[in-house]
Amino acid sequence: MATQQRPFHLVVFGASGFTGQFVTEEVAREQVSPERSSRLPWAVAGRSREKLQRVLERAAMKLGRPTLSSEVGIIICDITNPASLDEMAKQATVVLNCVGPYRFYGEPVVKACVENGTSCIDICGEPQFLELMYWKYHEKAAEKGAYIIGSSGFDSIPADLGVIYTRNKMNGTLTAVESFLTIHSGPEGSCIHDGTWKSAVYGFGDQSNLKKLRNESNLKPVPIVGPKLKRRWPISYCRELNSYSIPFLGADVSVVKRTQRYLHENLEQSPIDASSFTLTFFGQGYSQGFGPDKNKPNIRICTQVKGPEAGYVATPIAMVQAAITLLTDASDLPKAGGVFTPGAAFSRTKLIERLNQRGIEFSVISSSEV
Ligand SMILES: NC(=O)c1ccc[n+]([C@@H]2O[C@H](COP(=O)([O-])OP(=O)(O)OC[C@H]3O[C@@H](n4cnc5c(N)ncnc54)[C@H](OP(=O)(O)O)[C@@H]3O)[C@@H](O)[C@H]2O)c1
Repeated sequence: MATQQRPFHLVVFGASGFTGQFVTEEVAREQVSPERSSRLPWAVAGRSREKLQRVLERAAMKLGRPTLSSEVGIIICDITNPASLDEMAKQATVVLNCVGPYRFYGEPVVKACVENGTSCIDICGEPQFLELMYWKYHEKAAEKGAYIIGSSGFDSIPADLGVIYTRNKMNGTLTAVESFLTIHSGPEGSCIHDGTWKSAVYGFGDQSNLKKLRNESNLKPVPIVGPKLKRRWPISYCRELNSYSIPFLGADVSVVKRTQRYLHENLEQSPIDASSFTLTFFGQGYSQGFGPDKNKPNIRICTQVKGPEAGYVATPIAMVQAAITLLTDASDLPKAGGVFTPGAAFSRTKLIERLNQRGIEFSVISSSEV
């Protein structure tokens, strides 16, 4: 990986965005964490100096750190200006890219990072983007020693690392895992989560939120209630499903952005605070001496990953701890750089321990041998 002699160990690109502001706060917390044994020089990056300054001022107030703004660098850079992306990449060891939707804005950042030997983490929830980056940049990233790790927010750190945790805790060989996601959306069930999935924007909420979205946003969401949603996404979103999917298939960037803006304006802090998630894994496999050639699976395990609100609390924690893991567990990463999923990049590192310390908790619920 790129040397740590660069001026900034971490650069939060898109710090002025809705998610970027929380990632900025999380890096500021990490900077003064009692567990830190070394300095963490970092910067925020984006296309508007004023907005970046405002984000730092807000974080300083919220965290009670009046000197924060003077401790953090500011880099001006725009997706549409490749030279500015190169400049940002050259100054960073790891870029935390919060500028999405990634299928519209992501590739120039990956390209600049790969060319400059800079590692990059994103919080994309768009699987096809990560796949495309893998096909286009994996080899070059390996040659340059850059680690490009996609989907390092709520999508997909708890899911990926949950499977790895389940495998590690099993007294034998894990051969199959089923996982179930439960979103606890607070006493009023009023949390809306947004994201982009292929060309879809989806929301979780109760019926009144869906109506409100339809009436006030001037968009035409199509609700797909429980059973259909279960058929389309059979692995997750099953138990206790009380959600609505709001797809805008084929939507262009302006529709996606307009919907995101609407959701942000209507996401108050209290539902965020009241919300949480539980991801439950049911694994099965074989103990020593047993195998699929002769026997049925003879061991079972149930594990859980629990954490705070998925989109804007768990995601910044996951992203920042992934970045810290890149900086500190270099010898436990895949040997060369490349484009990776979180599971492939972090399976041998201490990321799970770090997440446990920050409130994303991994535990074994039960384990049995038949
Ligand atoms: N994986 C997860 O669980 C998870 C959770 C949350 C969010 N996300 C994803 O994170 C991404 C960001 O979401 P968000 O809600 O924070 O979006 P947002 O509020 O719209 O923020 C977008 C950011 O991108 C910046 N930007 C836009 N165009 C740019 C350009 N040409 N050059 C430089 N910067 C530019 C914006 O800067 P300005 O302020 O200057 O406009 C802003 O900082 C989305 O893809 C979302 O799906 C994923």
